Amino acid sequence: MTAREYHDRTAHSPASVRTSGHTLEWDIKPFPFKVYTELPSFALPRELDPPAIDTLAAIAGSPTGGATLMLSQLATVLYHSAGVTKRKTYPGGGEVLFRAAASTGALYQTEVYVAVGRVAGLDAGLYHFSPGDFALRRLRAGDVRDALATAAGDDSIASRAATVLLTGIYWRNAWKYQARAYRHLFWDSGTMLANLLAVAGGLGLAPRVLTGFVDGEVNRLLGLDPAREVALELIVIGRETSIAPAGGALEAIDHPTLPLSSWGVAAETTLAAARDVRSASPTARADPENTGLGSHPPHPRPALQALRAGWEHSPSAGEPAALARETGGPSVVALPAPRIEAGRGLAETIQRRGSTRQFGQAPLTAEELATVLWAATRGFEADVPAGLVDLYLIVNAVEDVAAGAYHYQPATHTLELLAAGDFRSRSSYLCLEQPLGGDAAAVIYFLARLDDLLDVFGDRGYRLANLEAGLAGGRAYLAAYAQGFGASGLTFYDAHVIEFFSPHAAGKDAIFVTALGRSGAGGRVTIESNLTLRRRPPA
Ligand SMILES: Cc1cc2nc3c(=O)[nH]c(=O)nc-3n(C[C@H](O)[C@H](O)[C@H](O)COP(=O)(O)O)c2cc1C
Repeated sequence: MTAREYHDRTAHSPASVRTSGHTLEWDIKPFPFKVYTELPSFALPRELDPPAIDTLAAIAGSPTGGATLMLSQLATVLYHSAGVTKRKTYPGGGEVLFRAAASTGALYQTEVYVAVGRVAGLDAGLYHFSPGDFALRRLRAGDVRDALATAAGDDSIASRAATVLLTGIYWRNAWKYQARAYRHLFWDSGTMLANLLAVAGGLGLAPRVLTGFVDGEVNRLLGLDPAREVALELIVIGRETSIAPAGGALEAIDHPTLPLSSWGVAAETTLAAARDVRSASPTARADPENTGLGSHPPHPRPALQALRAGWEHSPSAGEPAALARETGGPSVVALPAPRIEAGRGLAETIQRRGSTRQFGQAPLTAEELATVLWAATRGFEADVPAGLVDLYLIVNAVEDVAAGAYHYQPATHTLELLAAGDFRSRSSYLCLEQPLGGDAAAVIYFLARLDDLLDVFGDRGYRLANLEAGLAGGRAYLAAYAQGFGASGLTFYDAHVIEFFSPHAAGKDAIFVTALGRSGAGGRVTIESNLTLRRRPPA
């Protein structure tokens, strides 16, 4: 199945939602932690040393740093990206351990590993990060950076201190979201990436994202069964060190882990397949190396070179077509300059972040909205160009910005008015009929020229669009919480979103949605704020 077929087949519509017939089987709800049963744990230091940096400055990115990567810094990066930040117990005894970054359904299918070369206080090796006990477990002893660099066709991996690897476990998300889970792998690793880039950047670790690698080789390095869990992105961190020695072929590893559901490990593959997640995502069944949507063929370097050559001609590499239009007319709203400082440090913002469960209808200021839009569209160091997604908005209540539908133009920091009017109920409808979409002060709809991206990048372009939208949404969360209001990721009726923003959005596809606004609970922060108090006294 191609990416286009997958996307269309997993589109939400009122009919698909009402006829899905899917019910949640609570007795096999997947456990949200990956537990290696036979590997000793290596406790991470709990005295964290987060960067003393304003949230907005961290999102903006800091210049490349020359810092030596210390174990306490690695622990800080892991905690603020994927750590357990809040615990909530529910009547009846249920408990959810919420994490630093938002994740669809709080299912937390994104796992984190680290290939350590030179980290002060930690032996070289390949480690799994366990947020539950805040510990590392070593999957491979010795420096694996050379093997990883080969798999990714990127020499920087071999010469930088460490590489963080994000993966996704299908079944953990497919349990609830079925085939749509494949999109969620990239949305949720994207929100995590927003935190990771901000924290690692704030520590001067110069994070760089790699999306191009040979899936089969990276999965094998991690010892993953690609029918259950697959590598998504790599993030190189830390300063240049001496280049990792060339290693020979790495032997296969297969460390036992606890099954995620009571039916056992083998059942996970079947269950995920039954929920259509892998069969719905393009999988070359004849080629065991090739797993998931848009895998590279087993000829990495030519394929990567072709990709990189393609990026030069990416439609997003030049001026976006919309910018060719004249600006400055009455249909264009010049936004105030974004705030340079929010007054809230990055670590505190992440600790307080939570998805707003009910928005009041109180307005945001134009400056607050402008700051979120600016933050969501910051570039980042990567092997792909940024700017693959376009931001459309429904503005419900923003001071000095008339209610209506808009297109945000990052280069001029302006909003192009597409239609004036009160679209609260329409926005709620578009967001799968969820009140959050109507009660929010503004809702960002991330759209992409998917067909163009697929032409340029092949099916891997699908991953890139979903990842960048997740990252932008994650940055919107951070910018909102830094400024004292709230946000929530939302899902949506695909085709209706495009219809609503057309003709401007004709030919594009809806990728992700993030709502912004003040909490309905007294207009302050979020209803989750009471959950952040474990580490700080109530205000
Ligand atoms: C990509 C994404 C999509 C989401 N979609 C919805 C949604 O459609 N409706 C909703 O109420 N919450 C949605 N959420 C919020 C999640 O439910 C929330 O992140 C999760 O429960 C974890 O809680 P926290 O964000 O407060 O830490 C979404 C979050 C993300 C990251």
